[in-house]
Amino acid sequence: MDEFDLVVIGAGPGGYVCAIRAAQLGLSVAIVEKRAEPGGTCLNVGCIPSKALLHASERFEEAAHGFEALGFSTSAPKLDLNAMMAFKDNVVKGNTSGVEYLFKKNKITSITGAARISGRGRLEVRLGDGKTRSLGAKHIVIATGSAPAMLPGIKIDEKRIVTSTGALMLDKVPERLVVVGAGVIGLELGSVWRRLGAQVEVVEFLDQILPGMDGAVVKQFTRILKKQGFKLNLGMKVAGVRKGRKFLQVSIEPAKGGEAKEIKADVVLVAIGRIPYTQGLGLEEAGVDLDARGRIVTDGKFATTAGGIYAIGDVIAGPMLAHKAEDEGIALAEILCGQAGHVNYETIPGVVYTTPEIASVGKTEEALKAEGITYNSGTFPFTANGRARAMNAAQGFVKILAHASSDRVLGVHIVGPFAGELIGEAGIAMEFGASAEDIARTCHAHPSLSEAVKEAALDVDKRAIHM
Ligand code: FAD
Ligand code: NAI
Repeated sequence: MDEFDLVVIGAGPGGYVCAIRAAQLGLSVAIVEKRAEPGGTCLNVGCIPSKALLHASERFEEAAHGFEALGFSTSAPKLDLNAMMAFKDNVVKGNTSGVEYLFKKNKITSITGAARISGRGRLEVRLGDGKTRSLGAKHIVIATGSAPAMLPGIKIDEKRIVTSTGALMLDKVPERLVVVGAGVIGLELGSVWRRLGAQVEVVEFLDQILPGMDGAVVKQFTRILKKQGFKLNLGMKVAGVRKGRKFLQVSIEPAKGGEAKEIKADVVLVAIGRIPYTQGLGLEEAGVDLDARGRIVTDGKFATTAGGIYAIGDVIAGPMLAHKAEDEGIALAEILCGQAGHVNYETIPGVVYTTPEIASVGKTEEALKAEGITYNSGTFPFTANGRARAMNAAQGFVKILAHASSDRVLGVHIVGPFAGELIGEAGIAMEFGASAEDIARTCHAHPSLSEAVKEAALDVDKRAIHM
């Protein structure tokens, strides 16, 4: 049996980052991954391939419609979907190879196979050739991630009725795409296929898109989506999908009850959330408890209910985001080495990579109201930002929420160009306990999109200059 200080199960962003940090700190580390390539959901079928297709499809749409306003025109772009998919696959390959290189560089033993906990400090790995390999470990980290939630009675075939995985590899642009769930996956992948020519119709159970986001963001982005041509069926649920030879017949009905109606689709994307993935790990026998939502129960320091076994990432509570999993991986490796590893869950940013992008960090206005926290709010529109206008990308705004008496920044919400990059400044400010006044008095380059953040901070005190 091979013995290690640490064996990590799952080589997604939680697991591989934990393995690297532990190796940096001097532990002997093995990582077991049942996929052929490392990188988990994020690199293989999540963040990276979706962002490659979002980028490519955004450029395609821009080439088709966006240049006239800048004073030139081109002939209509011709889509080569196979080549676009090859671009995406190459981006994925580059990233997964990078992780393999990092394993070698950090002398991490990388094992391809499915791991199962077989006793205290013991694991069995089922290898591709059917053999098993036994491992011993002082510490075991479960970083097995999540899988798409299913709609009861609707069978996924990943060709016509797909999860995000199938939606990242369709072999032709569907004429009509029905997206079930107006969350992050639905709006990102719906955007990809709409830009490439699909009519996209969204069916969302709740009365709004993007639940959990700040109300002002939801309101403006709903308008933007409709303008882009998304058809939104809010407060509706899917009762069933019938497969015809030519198209799918999707039956939808009001979530609160009422008359059903039928809509036609070539492809249905089910994107109603993800569930923690804990199958085949031997958790019950090992004494690892799950909560009512199937997540591994941990204490504040990632320890499960079984001695020597820890868990991080999508498989535990908290937002299902790659950077959250990564930061937990680092914190846990440091804790295992006697350091004070820590994750600040108040400052985890969230980004939706649509056009324009949406980004937020900290509390929403609705959450502050619900918690009875008094606040001041400042908003600045990109229409009043010189750089955004020069980029012909002036949709959206920056909104800053700051404590009414201390002025400490409690939340920042952005709809607009490069919102996912702009939110970094807000995260740093919040980590340092900045006030809106601190942001307002920091010199921001001109002309830059980040000036909208400064102006929103000025507007918290109702003294924005350019509005
Ligand atoms: P995962 O990445 O899911 O990795 C877990 C790994 O464990 C998997 O590779 C799995 O094969 C392996 N495994 C499971 N069981 C075993 C076993 N018994 N033995 C060995 N290996 C096992 N997040 C963002 O922050 N930004 C984004 O832009 C973003 N885009 C996304 C787009 C899509 C379409 C999807 C589906 C998700 C996206 N996410 C995004 C979410 C992100 O992918 C996850 O939050 C992240 O991958 C979680 O990391 P993890 O390490 O916890 O798990
Ligand atoms: P989600 O939780 O973001 O959205 C799911 C949506 O489906 C919600 O609006 C919900 O109300 C709706 N819904 C649930 N049941 C329904 C039903 N029966 N009928 C109709 N609507 C229903 O989940 P999503 O989009 O599947 O993404 C999963 C996870 O992946 C998220 O937690 C997200 O954090 C992560 N992710 C992150 C990305 C990013 O950071 N850019 C990109 C893609 C995914």
